[in-house]
Amino acid sequence: MKVLIVGGGGREHAIAVSMKKSSRVEKLYCVPGNAGIAQIAECEPSIGVMEFDKIVAYAKEKAVDLVFVAPDDPLVGGLVDALEAAGLRAFGPRQNAAILEGSKAFSKDLMKKYNIPTAAYETFDDPEAALAYLETAEMPIVLKADGLALGKGVLICNTLEEAKAGVKEIMLDKHFGSAGNRMVVEEFMTGREVSVLSFVDGKTIKTMTSAQDHKRAKDGDQGLNTGGMGTFSPSPFYTDEVDEFCKKYIYQATVDAMAAEGREFKGIIFFGLMLTPKGPRVLEYNARFGDPETQVVLCRMKNDIIDVIDACIDGTLEQVDLQFEDNAAVCVVLASDGYPESYEKGYVISGLEKFEDAEGYYCFHAGTKATEAGVVTNGGRVLGITAKGQDLKAARANAYAATEWVSFENKYTRHDIGKAIDEA
Ligand code: AMP
Ligand code: GLY
Repeated sequence: MKVLIVGGGGREHAIAVSMKKSSRVEKLYCVPGNAGIAQIAECEPSIGVMEFDKIVAYAKEKAVDLVFVAPDDPLVGGLVDALEAAGLRAFGPRQNAAILEGSKAFSKDLMKKYNIPTAAYETFDDPEAALAYLETAEMPIVLKADGLALGKGVLICNTLEEAKAGVKEIMLDKHFGSAGNRMVVEEFMTGREVSVLSFVDGKTIKTMTSAQDHKRAKDGDQGLNTGGMGTFSPSPFYTDEVDEFCKKYIYQATVDAMAAEGREFKGIIFFGLMLTPKGPRVLEYNARFGDPETQVVLCRMKNDIIDVIDACIDGTLEQVDLQFEDNAAVCVVLASDGYPESYEKGYVISGLEKFEDAEGYYCFHAGTKATEAGVVTNGGRVLGITAKGQDLKAARANAYAATEWVSFENKYTRHDIGKAIDEA
């Protein structure tokens, strides 16, 4: 079959590599794609992920059998609905279900209504009311812009002054655009964070192996929030006991809640969990694969990804036995120095060929571009160097060793991805 992937980052490259392994896939397409994806798929860099009409037309022109919509913006904007309306088979939640990620107020209300464990919260449309509430609230406190904000619309405020400044930033100065028309104010929780991705067919949910992201730009979790600087999988903190609790109170409950609301969810649900002293709590939901969680999860999946996707679309996921390798993987992001603020682009990347025959090593492209001079840097996050190992420590050593195989001007990486493993 022919498959079109919508997106163009490291996550999409990992999805493409996983699909390439499927005996059922004869040809892959990707919009817009990147230089890495272009090695295994026909890319159309001129089509953006929000150009729905162009994507529909491209999918029809190439007569694809399946469209995989990976990023949050087109999912929340209704690309799956547009594809289906045009008679195409698409994987991902429809717009009425992608709201699980698209509105934090929606997801918090859902959790409250269906008793799914999460931090206590209030929602505000009016900055004055938010300010009045904060006067009596306990600090630290967490402010979240309601809508999509590239994972950056969350402010953790230690003092009332910071919280007041945060309300101004989100609701008045509209630092995160219209995502800040509404704001959720949330209780501050402590604990380790774990990401659990899952396949969902509307009724059944099957979780994948756990992972952990490193969101801050600098070592020791310092610096600004980013899209993610590295991941490891599985998380040693995601114990059987935690899994049992989440199965009982979070995973199926979320799928059932969406169905009960008339918002049947088919696709990927990403549970951002915090393991608090009082037990696991939902930090956030995403309606898609995580980036760079996907890079360390899919490379360990034993199933044919197309079979699992088909089962999600057809409502037969219950029959799928989802299996992961009994090993570990670590992804270290190579970024352009200065990310997530300002950085330079256009530097030639050398050493990429070293990954070609290296079993268990992957060089997932994020911000790259093919030019006549070779592959050049084209974004803040450039590559996700990923390696497997028999355990987490071996995978980490392998991934860091492989970060040395490639070089480019202004290459930046965190040095402590997976350091938490040593405390497990
Ligand atoms: P989110 O986009 O909602 O996952 O938030 C981004 C990051 O902010 C999370 O990964 C956490 O590190 C942190 N965070 C979000 N909500 C809370 C909370 N209620 N308490 C403590 N930290 C939080
Ligand atoms: N790595 C976090 C995310 O994809 O939102």
